[in-house]
Amino acid sequence: MRIYLIGYMGCGKSTLGRRLAKHLNLQFVDMDHYIEMRNHKSVPQIFAEEGEAEFRKKERKALEELSEFSNIVIATGGGAPCFFDNMDLMNQTGTTIYMNIDPAILADRLIHSKTERPLIKGKSKEELVVFIDEMLAKRRPFYSQAKHEITEPDIDLDVIRKFIS
Ligand code: S3P
Repeated sequence: MRIYLIGYMGCGKSTLGRRLAKHLNLQFVDMDHYIEMRNHKSVPQIFAEEGEAEFRKKERKALEELSEFSNIVIATGGGAPCFFDNMDLMNQTGTTIYMNIDPAILADRLIHSKTERPLIKGKSKEELVVFIDEMLAKRRPFYSQAKHEITEPDIDLDVIRKFIS
């Protein structure tokens, strides 16, 4: 059993992932946290010191490793499905669930979030709304390859249970 939660920054992958793992008695791993532990650097540090391309390579490597873990719920980074053939790898090795959350809600959550995210650092709420719209247009073709889609972060977990049974 391996479940991948995918979707844009701020859609609630980690929160849902923790709830879901508890509900199904599985392990939970946040991919960004895993990358940080494996590389002994924070995500913002990797972006600043090595650049995004290097971060994407590290992200791919983390995904390859995590795709061999069993009985696990993985909250992936927002960009992970959109690089290399990461989406294929996830679809081949587990149940993929796209959290398709309204962009206005994403902007609101991100502006209040304490997590440092290099791609949106320093953006005002107005800039963020435009940025999310543009980026989602590019990312949706990847996200929508997920086997399942949900539109509410606080979804009834039994709905998700049905995806995997
Ligand atoms: C990113 C999302 C982040 C993190 C990095 C890049 C992205 O993860 O991997 O800052 O490209 O959307 P979250 O989706 O957990 O914020």
